[in-house]
This record gives sequence, C-alpha cells and structure tokens, in this order.
Amino acid sequence: MTSHLKKVELHCHLEGAAPPALTLAQARKYNIDLSAYLSDGAYVWHDFASFLECYDKVSEVYKSEEDYALLTETYLEELASIGTIYSELIVSPDHGKRIGLGAEAYIAGVCEGIRRAREAHGIEARLIVTGERHFGPESVIGAAEYAAKAKNPLITGFNLAGEERMGRVADYARAFDIARDAGLGLTIHAGEVCGAFSVEDALNDVRPSRIGHGVRAIENPDLVKRLADQGAVLEVCPGSNIALKVFPDFAAHPLRKLKEAGVRVTISSDDPPFFHTSLKREYELASEAFGFSDSEINDLTRTGIEAAFVDEETRRALLARL
Ligand code: HPA
Ligand code: ZN
Repeated sequence: MTSHLKKVELHCHLEGAAPPALTLAQARKYNIDLSAYLSDGAYVWHDFASFLECYDKVSEVYKSEEDYALLTETYLEELASIGTIYSELIVSPDHGKRIGLGAEAYIAGVCEGIRRAREAHGIEARLIVTGERHFGPESVIGAAEYAAKAKNPLITGFNLAGEERMGRVADYARAFDIARDAGLGLTIHAGEVCGAFSVEDALNDVRPSRIGHGVRAIENPDLVKRLADQGAVLEVCPGSNIALKVFPDFAAHPLRKLKEAGVRVTISSDDPPFFHTSLKREYELASEAFGFSDSEINDLTRTGIEAAFVDEETRRALLARL
C-alpha cells in the first residue's frame, strides 16, 4: 500500500494523460472519427512509432483554450486525489500552433487548468516545453524560442521528446542552448528506444540535469558510473517501459540496479492511459514489483523535489510537505 505516501511526478506528457472517456467526448464534440486510435475505452497502438501516431491523433481532439484548461485540471485533480503535491507537465506549444489554436492560447489554457487545480486542491505544478524530434530541428528550435521568450513563471523547463531514432542529439543542441541561456531547466528523452549511446550523446551535447528514461544506460557500466558521479537524475517510467517493451518484464527492469549503483532516480507515469498505468500504479509498482520500502519510496520522491524545476522557496516548501 502506497496510498498514504506523498507523491511527485516529473515526467508526464499532458496530452498523454488524457483520459480515454474525455478524449471520446472531445472527438464527438468536434465530429472527429478516432475509432482507429480509441476503441473499447482504450488507446490503440502496437509499437513506439504507432504509439506516437496515436498520441498525435488523440492530441488533435483538444482544440480550444478551454479544452486545455479542462484536460490540465482533470489530470491534476486525479494526481491531487492520490496525495501528489507537485507535478511537472510536458507541453507542446508547437502543437497549439499546428492545430491553429496558437501557442499563446494553448499555454494560457494549460495555465488556467493549473490555477484551478491549485486553488481547489493545493497541488503545485510547472510546465516543461518540449520539442518533438519527428517534427525536425527547426520546429524544436521554435519551441525553445517560444519557451525562452514567454517569460511565463510556470514554464521552467525544456525537453526533447518524440521519435528517438530520428537524427542525433547534436542536431538539436542549438535548441537546448537557447533554453539554457534563458535559464530553463534541461531534460531530454534518451536511453528508451535507443541504447546507452543516446544517453552519452545527451550528456555530452546537452548537459542536462535530468534525463527522461535513461534506463538503457544500464547497458554500459561506465555510463552508469558517470551518471552516479555527475548526480544526473533519471525520470524513470517503469510502466511505460514495459508497455513499450523496452524490457520484457518488471523483473528485468533496471530501476533497482540503477538506484543501488548510486544513480539518482525518480518515478513517473509518462503517458498513463496509453500505457495502462497511472502515478498511483507506479508508486504501487515501486513497492510491489521492485520491493522498495516506504522509506526508499520517499527517497525517490525527495529526489524528485530536489531535481524539480522550481525556485528554491517552492522547493523548501515541498520538502517540508514531504
Ligand atoms: N516518449 C517520447 N515521445 C513522446 C512520448 C513518450 O513517451 N509521449 C509523447 N511524446
Ligand atoms: Zn516521455
């Protein structure tokens, strides 16, 4: 039982958290046929590429500022109901542009959702703007420029997601330079679909304080040592990794090995309903599949707060709540 534990989540894609029932209602509202991607209350995909396609299709039924406020409020409410005190949401203003809503209105809707959830439930949240690799380096630079210029106090980080097999990290380094110069926290998806080399590329070319997933670093013992020595934080999403077959089962998942090697690890849900998980389930898995004690699970949560992209006053307040 982990229901009594305070929780923190650093790695969740906003549209990836969309409840299937809400997505279905949205599709009906806009007269969009999603039947190839959503059936019997579950999202339909079969590998990483088709997951990304499904994710992009689902995202397209969230169209207005209010749609994004509702989606954000709905997810944060769910998190608050299980004892979550802090959430970082990965958002894509570029997606707002692509659907004709515009980056400003997209972010304004998300921020309104955060405001409502904080007022009703006391949950703290921040936004990580992401570029998606499969839309190319120019679009990722556009996302970084947006994040840098927005001067929005809730936008505190920059990420790179999407098709990890497309291009090399160096192709996207310029976007991270822009984000770093603007004072944003840096994290990047690596070591999920691609092997340990992608984590090394990320460390060398981006110098992030955190890595999204990073779990395939386990394939290279020198790299595991480097991560531990550097204090880089891994945003580990075990349920996602099993759903995407990065590892065959939880027994083969390296979360515990990484922690024991001194790597700083946290747990998150990534795209929860797509991967038949939730933050609640990830905490239960930490206990039941990985055998962590309550005190070890609190270590993961504390690491999450220590690595959060927040000002020091907020960090102190969150640590005090834990
Ligand atoms: N991984 C990579 N890119 C993504 C994901 C993910 O889980 N979700 C949305 N874009
Ligand atoms: Zn992710």
